[in-house]
Amino acid sequence: MEKEQIKQRIYELREQLDHHNYQYYVLAQPEISDYEYDTLLKELIDLEKGNPGFFDPNSPTQRVGSDINKEFKQVVHKYPMLSLGNTYSIEEIIDFDNRVRKGLPGAIIEYVCELKYDGVAIGLTYKNGKLLQAITRGDGIRGDDVTNNVKTIKSIPLNLKGTNYPDEFEIRGEIFLPHSSFDKMNAEREAAGEPLFANPRNAAAGTLKQQKSSVVAKRPLDCYLYFILGNNLPSSSHYENLLAAKQWGFKIPEHIRICSTIDEISAFINYWNKERSKLPFDIDGIVIKVNSYQQQDELGFTAKTPRWAISYKFKAEQVATKLLSIDYQVGRTGAITPVANLEPVLLAGTTVKRASLHNSDQIKLLDIHENDTVFVEKGGEIIPKIVGIDLKMRSFSSKPAEFIKQCPVCKAELIRVEGEAKYYCPNETGCPPQIKGRIEHFVSRKAMNIGGAEATVEALFENGLIKDSADLYYLTKEQILSMDRFAEKSAVNLLKSIEESKKTPFYRVLYAIGIRFVGETTAKTLATHFKSIDELREASLEQLTSVNEIGERIASGIIDFFKNQKNIHVIEKLKNAGVQLQINEPDNQIIVNKLNGKIIAISGTFEKYSREELKNLIEKFGGKNATSISSNTSFLLAGSNMGPAKLEKVKELNIPVISEDDFLNMIKD
Ligand code: IVH
Repeated sequence: MEKEQIKQRIYELREQLDHHNYQYYVLAQPEISDYEYDTLLKELIDLEKGNPGFFDPNSPTQRVGSDINKEFKQVVHKYPMLSLGNTYSIEEIIDFDNRVRKGLPGAIIEYVCELKYDGVAIGLTYKNGKLLQAITRGDGIRGDDVTNNVKTIKSIPLNLKGTNYPDEFEIRGEIFLPHSSFDKMNAEREAAGEPLFANPRNAAAGTLKQQKSSVVAKRPLDCYLYFILGNNLPSSSHYENLLAAKQWGFKIPEHIRICSTIDEISAFINYWNKERSKLPFDIDGIVIKVNSYQQQDELGFTAKTPRWAISYKFKAEQVATKLLSIDYQVGRTGAITPVANLEPVLLAGTTVKRASLHNSDQIKLLDIHENDTVFVEKGGEIIPKIVGIDLKMRSFSSKPAEFIKQCPVCKAELIRVEGEAKYYCPNETGCPPQIKGRIEHFVSRKAMNIGGAEATVEALFENGLIKDSADLYYLTKEQILSMDRFAEKSAVNLLKSIEESKKTPFYRVLYAIGIRFVGETTAKTLATHFKSIDELREASLEQLTSVNEIGERIASGIIDFFKNQKNIHVIEKLKNAGVQLQINEPDNQIIVNKLNGKIIAISGTFEKYSREELKNLIEKFGGKNATSISSNTSFLLAGSNMGPAKLEKVKELNIPVISEDDFLNMIKD
C-alpha cells in the first residue's frame, strides 16, 4: 500500500473501532460480532506496528495497556476535587433545601437527582476532543496521573464525537467494577491463592493503582461521568451539559431525574433504596444537585463541599445467615481477632462468607451462641460485621460461644491488659503468625517499601530462610532460588529492593521495626527528638513522656520493646547490614544560603522528611519558616492532605505552591 493509503486506512480503522467501542460499552448496542471487532483491531495493530510514524496515544490500540511498570506522577488538580456533604434522613434534605432557598431568595429551583456511584472518583481532561489526562482524587488538591490505566477502560472515549465540545474541559465521574466482573475476578484470585478484594470499590481502587496498564486492561472497569468543569460549556445547566456530554460519547448517569419538590426527591430516594439491589453495580446513595450553574455560583462552596449539592446515604443493607464457626486470628502485635465463618449469603451485590466479631466483649455483648442465625451488615471496614442475632431462630440447647484461652497457633496462655478490649498472645518472638506479621509490616510500602517482598515473606518464612526482619539483609541469591517458583529475575529484583531499602530514612525504619503503639506519626516524632535508636533505647519513661504527644502507653511500649533481647539482637543485625538507625543529616551539614531569606510556609504531610526535618532544612539553607500564610510568604511547601482553605488562600494571594521534591531540588547542589 502507498503511504497515503496506509494513513487513510489507519484513520478509517480508528474511527470504526471508536464507533464500535461506543456502541458496545456505552450504549450496550453492539453492531458487529466480537470476532469482527477483533479482526479490525488486529489489522490496525499490524498497520501501526509497521508504520510507527502514525503513532497516536489515543488510538484504540492503546486500550490494551502496557507491561511497563509505571510510577504515578502527582498532579495538582486545576479545580480542587471536593466531596459532598452527607445526609441520612429526609429531614436533613429539607434542611439542605431550606439553606439553598435562603441563599437564592425568591428563585425557582430545579434539582437534579442522580445515583451516587460507589467507586473511585476520577477527573478526565480533554483537549481538542482528545483525552489528555486522567487524575485520581488523591487528597483533593493533588492526585495520581493514571492516564495509561484509564485508557484501558472501554467506556471512556479517547476521542470525542461531534464538534460542539469546548477546546478544553474536565469531566469527573466514578470508575467502578460491575458485580459480575467483581465476582469473576475474586473467583480467579481464589483459585490462584491470591488475597480476595473485600468489595467492588476496593477492587476498582486497587486495579486503578496497578502499575502495569496491561493488568488493568484485563479487568473490566466501567465509568459514569457526572460533573463537567470548564469554560464555554454548551449550556448553563448541569442536566443539559450532561446530555451534551452524552452526544460527545460519554457514559452519563442513566437514572437521573429533575425534581422541583422535596416529595419528588423523596420518591426518587425511596425508589432507589428499594431497587438498588437489582442494579448490576454498587451505589451507596443519591446525589442531589442544583441544576442551574448561575445558582450554583451564587451558592458557592464551604471549605470542603459545595453548597449546591448534597448526598443522601442509604442505610447499610442487612441480611440474615447462619453462623458456622468462629476462627481466631493472630495479628502481628499478638492481638487476637475473632472472625465468624458464615453460610455464604448475598449482601449488597457480593457473596459474604466471613464477618468480623472484633473482640471478646463484642461476642459477649451480642451474646452469640453456637449455630445462631446472625444479621450481617457491610460497614466501612474490609469485612462485614455481625450486628445482631435472630433470637427466634435459636435452638434451646445451643451453648454460648466461648472465647479461646490459648493462642490458636503457639498455644501460649492469652493475656488481657487492664482497660483493653483485646486479648493478646504474649509469645511475641516465638509465635509464628506474629513473627511473619511483623516481617510483612517491615517490608510494607509505608515502612521499608521492599517492592515485591510482601508476597514473598510467607514463602521465605515457611522455608526457614528468614526468622526475623533483619534476616532479609543476609539472604543470598542461591537461597531464594532454592524455593519453588523462584526464577533468577525475581531473585535479583528482590535482592535489589532489599539493598535499596537500606537508604530508608530513620523515622521509617523506626516505624518498620514494629514497636507496639508506634505508628507513622509517632515514629517521626521520636526520630526527630532522639535522633538515633541508641538514644531512644537509653531513654527512661520520664524522658519519653516528656516528649510532646508521647503518653505512658506508647512510652511503656517502647521500654518493653527494648527489654526483649531478641529485639536488641534484630536491631544489631539491622545495624550491621547498614540500615539507617539514626538520622542522616542531609548534605553533610554544610550550611549554604540557597534560600536567601525566603519565607516558606509548610502544610500537609510529606513522603521523605517529617515536617520538623523540613523546617530544620529551611533554616539550615537560609530560609525562614512562616508561622501562617500571608502576603509576605514566598511560597508554600505543600504535602498531601492539605486543607482546601489553605489552597484557596495561597491562590488568592498568588503564592506559588511547591512540592517536597521541588523543595529538595532547590536546596541540592
Ligand atoms: S458530584 C463537587 N455526582 O461521591 C461535587 N459525585 O461523597 C462533585 N459520587 O466526590 C461530585 N456519584 O466521588 C457527584 N452522581 C454523582 C456521584 C458522585 C458518586 C462520588 C464522588 C464524590 C463523592 C462525594
